[in-house]
Amino acid sequence: MITNILLLALPLVVAYLAATVWHRRFKQFANFPQLKPSLLWGHLKLIHEYTLKGPPDVHYDPVFATMAKELGNPPVMFLDLRPASYPMVLVNSHEVAEQVTRASKMFAWSTPKSPTMGALVRLIGPESVLMKEKENWKQLRKRFNPGFAPQHLMTLLPCILDKTDIFMEHLDRLASSGEEFSMLKHTINLTFDIIGAITMDVDFDAQKSESSSQGEFIRLYDQLLKMYGQEDSRFPWWMSPMREWRRYTLSNQIDRLLETMIRAKHTQQQQQHTTNGSSKAKKPRDVLSLSLQGSDSLSRALLTETRDQIKTFLFAGHDTTGILLAWLFYEFSRSPHVLQAVRAELDELFGPDAGPAAVRARLLAPGGEELINRMRYATAVVKEVLRVYPPAGTARMAPPGSGFTVTAGGRSYCLDGAIIYNCATIIQRDRAVFGETADDFVPERWLGDKAGIMSAGAEEESEKRDEAGRTFPPGAWRPFERGPRNCIGQDLATIEARVIVAAVARRYDFVKVGLGELDLNEKGQPVENDKGQYKVKAEMYNTAQVTAKPVDAMRMKVRLRA
Ligand code: HEM
Ligand SMILES: *[C@@H]1O[C@H](CO)[C@@H](O)[C@H](O)[C@H]1NC(C)=O
Ligand SMILES: *[C@@H]1O[C@H](CO)[C@@H](O)[C@H](O)[C@H]1NC(C)=O
Repeated sequence: MITNILLLALPLVVAYLAATVWHRRFKQFANFPQLKPSLLWGHLKLIHEYTLKGPPDVHYDPVFATMAKELGNPPVMFLDLRPASYPMVLVNSHEVAEQVTRASKMFAWSTPKSPTMGALVRLIGPESVLMKEKENWKQLRKRFNPGFAPQHLMTLLPCILDKTDIFMEHLDRLASSGEEFSMLKHTINLTFDIIGAITMDVDFDAQKSESSSQGEFIRLYDQLLKMYGQEDSRFPWWMSPMREWRRYTLSNQIDRLLETMIRAKHTQQQQQHTTNGSSKAKKPRDVLSLSLQGSDSLSRALLTETRDQIKTFLFAGHDTTGILLAWLFYEFSRSPHVLQAVRAELDELFGPDAGPAAVRARLLAPGGEELINRMRYATAVVKEVLRVYPPAGTARMAPPGSGFTVTAGGRSYCLDGAIIYNCATIIQRDRAVFGETADDFVPERWLGDKAGIMSAGAEEESEKRDEAGRTFPPGAWRPFERGPRNCIGQDLATIEARVIVAAVARRYDFVKVGLGELDLNEKGQPVENDKGQYKVKAEMYNTAQVTAKPVDAMRMKVRLRA
């Protein structure tokens, strides 16, 4: 049976390979900067060889970075992934990245997303705002924008603080036992709890597994995410049907749980609507309520659409933010002057009492929100973590034949039909922008940057902020990507991170174990290198699981500060 299929398919395969080879030699990308491809395997073989030079599970970004360096860091680099995937253009320069993500005559809401996004369909759903295009996307984005306006986000502070308290209960316990634990698992449960409360107005209690009412949901989600590891994502679905089947069944189970929650919410909304009538009661702005707003009946289409947005927000909203926090605590463990400066700033802004209750009281008192914006140094730290360890990126594709062209260094490149990958890891470590210290963790570089922290969720707002005086070209820092399809949750993520830093930084010392462990001298003392960081025995690195995750899930110990 199998042999029959193979025999039947053989002429097709031969024809396909012949066409590929012909394309390679004569077509569109032949003159792009690139390492020498093999005629049959394009750059796949080279990528494999470069991967073998580092840890086997290293994220593809550093591998691409090494390859680009070999070519002298051209603004774009061509990678021929045929026959495994589409040809790809790696974007290494912020000027080109901006041309890809800004609104243009050809694409009113920037270059369309790459079809490779389809691989995530079980995780975020086919109707996801992350994947939709044009008017369909615009309508969804408009609907959810009010839920991410800065003034509204500040009303979420009590919720963020409650969840941070539970996180600290865990850290207190781990500090007194002195045991080793995975920081990433804890930060991801924390951010999951927060995003659950914010998207659906439900308490996931991820951090209290015993009492977790939604434990089933989180367990399913965790299992589903595990099906997206680096090994699992190397091949298309038809080459590993069992993996795809598993993703499918897990996703279905999650869908059913979510649909039950959505129905319950809809019923509740209807009831409130009838009892409260047109009262001026504040409208809820959680994603779920926004999605159902103004719909009296819950049609199948609305149920599916709402479910997929919830899946998207739950996924996009917790994983990345958990990673940001894990790397942040890692930097606290090995950058003594950074931790010291963060603490000094907190002493100044929040007063000398570092206890959780005092921090909470200050943040919830009138003017408390302002404190978050005044955490200038901590803001710079968050910004620098996202520069050096960007958790996510964007992949786009202009339709073949559209003639979508970018320019760089006086040359133009027609990119249509290729996956266009804005490689944040490379762009954000550009020596032409960040100088000799491009690879180093130096939060201070952001202190003079008048643009403050982030560009806001609303696009008009972010355009305005771009006008402000900046030390660096705005497009050189793009962990949330830029343009109309930028991250809707960026302000939420950075507010969360700063609140958590305010609560945690003065309470604990962080100690990395395993990779990234401090290299102590004979007296048992850490040794500073010339960059003001402690020497570590072996460097940490990122691995790929949809997003870029610290390889050992950030194994650490914490100590309560004396
Ligand atoms: C440190 C944390 C975060 C990082 C680094 C990050 C990064 C990104 C990036 C790079 C994109 C563009 C993706 C693409 O083009 O395919 C994006 C989009 C998005 N993010 Fe985030 N994100 C973070 C936090 C959040 C949070 C907290 C939420 C939700 C509450 C969120 C929700 C979304 C959504 C819905 C989109 C799609 C927006 C659209 O297409 O209109 N993200 N994010
Ligand atoms: C995270 O949450 C899940 C689900 O509630 C739980 O099973 C797991 O033990 C939690 N992990 C940590 C490190 O708290
Ligand atoms: C009105 O709405 C609020 C929540 O928005 C709810 O707590 C309350 O029970 C509703 N009914 C009345 C009669 O106020």
